[in-house]
Parts: sequence; C-alpha cells; structure tokens
Amino acid sequence: MRIYLIGYMGCGKSTLGHRLAVETGIPFIDLDKFIEERNCKSVPHIFEEEGESGFREKERKALEEVSLFTDVIVATGGGAPCFFDNMELMNRTGITIFMNIDPSILAERLLKSKTERPLIKGKSKTELELFIAATLSRRLPFYRKAHFEVSQPDITPAALLKLIGVPQ
Ligand code: S3P
Repeated sequence: MRIYLIGYMGCGKSTLGHRLAVETGIPFIDLDKFIEERNCKSVPHIFEEEGESGFREKERKALEEVSLFTDVIVATGGGAPCFFDNMELMNRTGITIFMNIDPSILAERLLKSKTERPLIKGKSKTELELFIAATLSRRLPFYRKAHFEVSQPDITPAALLKLIGVPQ
C-alpha cells in the first residue's frame, strides 16, 4: 500500500506521516529528505545551485522512485503535486490525501518553523500571508485532485485510516 500526503508547506504532512507509520508499521519517507540523500545536497542548496526547475526535476525523479516501493507512506513537498504529471502519478500508484489546513494556521506554523524553505526565506508575516494566498490559489486545483481531503490540523492516524478505509 502506498499513501501520499500532500498539501501546502506547514500543513503537517511529515508529522502525520510519522504517526501513521508508527500506527501501521508501513515505512515512512519524507520526500525532501529522500531527495537530499539521493543528491547528497540539502534542498536549499539545490535551489541555490540549480534553481527551482532543477529541484523540480529531482523531485519528480524521487517521486518516480518511491512510487515503485511496495509499502510506503510519503510526505511530499508542498509543490510536488503541481509540477509535471506528479499528481496523476501519485493517484495512479497509491492513495492521495490532501491536508487542507487554514492559511492562517499555515502562516503561524511557517513563521515558527526551523526548517529552511527557499521559497519563503526572509519573508515578513505580511509578505508570507500574501505569498500563501497567491500560491495556494494556484496550487488548489492540483491538490483537489487527491482521493481524500482532510481539514482537521490534528487528525489522529486512526481517524485518517478509518476515512480512507484501511482496516486496523
Ligand atoms: C516546497 C515545499 C517544501 C520543499 C521545497 C519547496 C514548495 O516542502 O519541497 O522547499 O514548493 O511548497 P514542505 O512542504 O515539506 O515544506
């Protein structure tokens, strides 16, 4: 079984992915960490040296690779569903879940986060809120192609598994 968690930066994909892995025993992969390991380079470093397009190519390759794993829970980067036919690849090879979290919660979390994210680096609170509003509206049509959508920021693994019909 493959489960892909998708949604904007800060929506909690990695946290939920870890918890789902503990609950189900299915291995968890954070796609950004996978890209970093495969390329021996951090995500900010890839953006710096190869630009966003270079990162998206690597992200696509990583997604193709993980989509071949038999059992895996994948937390994808916020932009992953919105490039190439990544969303179709995920929908074809697994169960996709869009974590649709309120933009004000996203902004709050991203301001506090210690993870370096090149797309929002150095933005003030207002700039970040405007950026989220603009990019989220472009990304929503891709996110909405997911098989399932959840909007509770603190959904439990058990509730999520029930929603997607996985027996526990
Ligand atoms: C990105 C989200 C990041 C990471 C990269 C680009 C995006 O992942 O892939 O910085 O385009 O939204 P998270 O969603 O895990 O922060």
